[in-house]
Order: sequence, then structure tokens, then C-alpha cells
Amino acid sequence: MRKPLIIANWKMNKTISETEQYAQEFLRLIDDTEQLDLVICPPFTGLEKLKAVCKEQVNLGAQNMFWEVSGAYTGEISADMLLSCGCSYVILGHSERRQLFNENNYIINSKLRIAIEKNLIPVLCVGETLQQRENKLAYDVIREQLREGLAGLEPPGRWAVAYEPVWAIGTGVNAHPDDAQTMAMFIRSELGMLNKALYDYTRILYGGSVTENNAADFFAQADIDGALVGGASLNAATFVNIIRKYNY
Ligand code: 13P
Repeated sequence: MRKPLIIANWKMNKTISETEQYAQEFLRLIDDTEQLDLVICPPFTGLEKLKAVCKEQVNLGAQNMFWEVSGAYTGEISADMLLSCGCSYVILGHSERRQLFNENNYIINSKLRIAIEKNLIPVLCVGETLQQRENKLAYDVIREQLREGLAGLEPPGRWAVAYEPVWAIGTGVNAHPDDAQTMAMFIRSELGMLNKALYDYTRILYGGSVTENNAADFFAQADIDGALVGGASLNAATFVNIIRKYNY
């Protein structure tokens, strides 16, 4: 039985005081959600504040991480640093990292390896661009992202793959829930070919213009176990409303 997972990805938003305000409002609104794993991924600078206010009521995640454990890597952050701030999750291979920072599948594989070694729960993002979709390459791209990203690795039981079609991110144009389900099923069967156990235990999330209005349609899909929410997670009340759409 896969435990549903809903993740807020704040991207490069919120100062420390804004983080504190959000956390207080979130705690005021959130119901008892033991049936769900809830994760908030603020910028690195917000991790400590979020932990201080929310304590055990929410899991903390990072939006990125470096593949070496320490050393002369100006501007980077290590797994141990994230663990010391209370992080238990880390998003890896987000399309913004792939597109703006030239992260390829080999880099993402190195980051996944260190996350697994350090017991951070990885959330591997995959997704095709509009051009790839129009050229009927979406399935090939996702297969390659999975195979190269996971080469030689065995992800832990609570990990997740987030299917985020690039054309749906921040555009207000979400994938049709049926199409997202078809892709989630494809991802699951590809994972099953790599390692039979992954078929059953991998949590697959949908991300890309998830809102209060469409979240329930994604949550209703058989192979979708939750969501990775960007813009709509920046408002605590909206994010709580999305969480409430999960039938727990
Ligand atoms: P939006 O929800 O803003 O489309 O962003 C999705 C995303 O990239 C989450 O990681």
C-alpha cells in the first residue's frame, strides 16, 4: 500500500518572515493528516524557520542538492547540511534545474546516489517538453530519464517519481488527468522492468499547474499517488485546500 504524498515546491519564493507567517497559518488550518505524507520544500534559507514553527507536523524537503559530501564547491549544498536542518526529502532533476542549470541524467544519477546513501528520500522529476510531446517523443524521453537517472541505484521504499510535463509547469495548462494517468502507468511499468519491487512501492506524483480545482481529478487516478505543487502551494490556505481534496 503506497502512502499518498503531497509536496509543496516553493521554488525561489519567500523570505524568512514570509516563511514564518505561512507556517503559522498552515498549522492553524491543517487537519490531522496521518494518512498522508506532507512535505514543504522552501528555499534553503527557509528550512530552519519552517522546522522551528512546524516541528513534526510537516516533513521538510530541499529543492536541490550537490552530489559530493563536502569540499570546494562554491554555492552548493550537501546532504549532511540538509539533514542537519531537519530535511527528510530532496527534489532532484526538476525541469528548471535541467533547463536553466544544464543538469543531465548523469548529474541527476550522481545526486540520487548520494541522497540514497545519506537516507534522504529522493523525489525524481521527469517530464517532456512541448516540442518533444509534439514530436511524439514523450515516452522515449521519460524512459531515458528513468533509465539513466536510476542506473545502478535502488531507491528506498518511500521515494517518489514526479511526472511534471514541462509545458504544464507554471503555465496554467495542466495535463488532462487521463493523460497523466497514462503516463503514470507507463512510468510504473518502466520501473517494474528495472526492478520488480519498484513497480509496487514507487509513489508517482503529478505536477504542473495543480490547483484546488483540478487536484481531485489527479488524486482519483489509479497510478497517481499525490502531487508536486508549485504556484498554488505559495498560499497556505490554497495548499491546505489541495491537501483536503485527497480522499483520506
Ligand atoms: P506549478 O504548480 O506552478 O505549475 O509548478 C509545478 C512544479 O514545477 C512543481 O515542482
